[in-house]
Amino acid sequence: MSEMNEMTLPTTPARPPVQPSGGCPFDLPPVSALFNREGPHTEFATLRTEEPISKITLPDGSWAWLVTRHSDVRAVLGDTRFSSDTTVHGYPLSGMTAGPNPQNRSFVHMDPPEHTRLRRMVTREFMVKRIEALRPEIQRITEELCDRMEHAERDAHGGVDFVEALALPVPSLVISLLLGVPYDDHDIFQQLTGKLLSRTVPNDEREAARRELFAYLDRLVTSKEADPGDDILGRLIIEQQRTGEITHDEVLVFAAALLIAGHETTANMIGLSALSLMHDQESADRLREDPSLIRGAVEELLRFHSIVRNGPRRAATADIEIDGHLIRAGEGVVVAVPSANHDESVFADADRLDVCRPNAQHHVAFGYGIHQCLGQALARVELQVVIDTLLRRFPTMRPAVPIEEIPFRTDMTIYGCHALPVTW
Ligand code: HEM
Repeated sequence: MSEMNEMTLPTTPARPPVQPSGGCPFDLPPVSALFNREGPHTEFATLRTEEPISKITLPDGSWAWLVTRHSDVRAVLGDTRFSSDTTVHGYPLSGMTAGPNPQNRSFVHMDPPEHTRLRRMVTREFMVKRIEALRPEIQRITEELCDRMEHAERDAHGGVDFVEALALPVPSLVISLLLGVPYDDHDIFQQLTGKLLSRTVPNDEREAARRELFAYLDRLVTSKEADPGDDILGRLIIEQQRTGEITHDEVLVFAAALLIAGHETTANMIGLSALSLMHDQESADRLREDPSLIRGAVEELLRFHSIVRNGPRRAATADIEIDGHLIRAGEGVVVAVPSANHDESVFADADRLDVCRPNAQHHVAFGYGIHQCLGQALARVELQVVIDTLLRRFPTMRPAVPIEEIPFRTDMTIYGCHALPVTW
């Protein structure tokens, strides 16, 4: 069992410690169990009712507050007195895959005004209008990958790995294109980001992967400084670096942050979404008959799966009261996104996937507040395009192995499937 999975709730005299399967209070089990209404969401449900802001023990023996209700999650993430800076006293670092590395800390782990200044430099690149303009290109990439998948070699079970054939290459190609990273290098990224986000890779190996990624990006940014292209990195170099707003190293940190964030998250959502719709043919048929429902279905899939399982995390910089509960300056907070997204007081029958749920968009799968996901418009369009294309082109797609044999990413910060053998 990984270090992360050893995270436990302290024993309280009132009731036995709540310890969902997997050992970690905000680790959800494989999708197969999520489909079961009696699944471990019940443990979050107990916490939301009995102790919505409770103490958890982190792997190193320290503790943090675990916030489980939708309203409290929004209150924490919406309050800038809760710091995202991993170097701030009390930040709950233990068990996180990204340690405090001030040299390559991105704006994700900064507070205003630095966060605001840096995020603003890339905000327009990810605005809805700009991303919508990319839709035809994303569609073209998806169709091409589907063509290739149709003719891919089958494994011994007659299956093709959906993760390798489609779920990973779509976001990978798109983010590489946006940043101006040669796609030929995508193997390097997948390997290195995989190690960076793994909870089982030893720290020294993870650190080596981080160094290797930065060495590659260093060479890339240096070559772009001589010849900036019409892409995000090129524009950052021309508009921000050449004007003295940011340094070479800061361009590098932007590149790493966007590559990592843009790679694995959407890939895992694509895999889980496809699996859900293979499992739930009734919903798949509804979406096939009326593709205008796909946008809403994507929100519901984001809510239902809540792939960010290990945070977000914050450190209180002042004494702050959340719903009558005092969190003191210097105390750490872990926000349970999956719990908030399954809060029955907001989402009726929350543990059921309902692709026509009227308020699915109120999920916090992309976070909330000033750090809310920068790439959400991109993730949405990628998911919408892939789901629409799959339903149209592969109506009979199904898992090539029993669901129990699908390797779920219980060892990773971002939940999903390592592989998903499919057939049609
Ligand atoms: C389904 C896919 C995705 C999910 C579920 C997701 C989830 C999240 C969440 C929960 C946060 C908030 C972190 C916090 O509050 O500390 C976040 C932030 C962020 N995401 Fe995503 N994300 C996804 C896709 C993407 C993509 C495609 C990009 C592309 C560039 C991206 C870039 C970022 C960045 C840069 C931040 C930090 C924003 C800030 O600190 O101001 N994400 N994401």
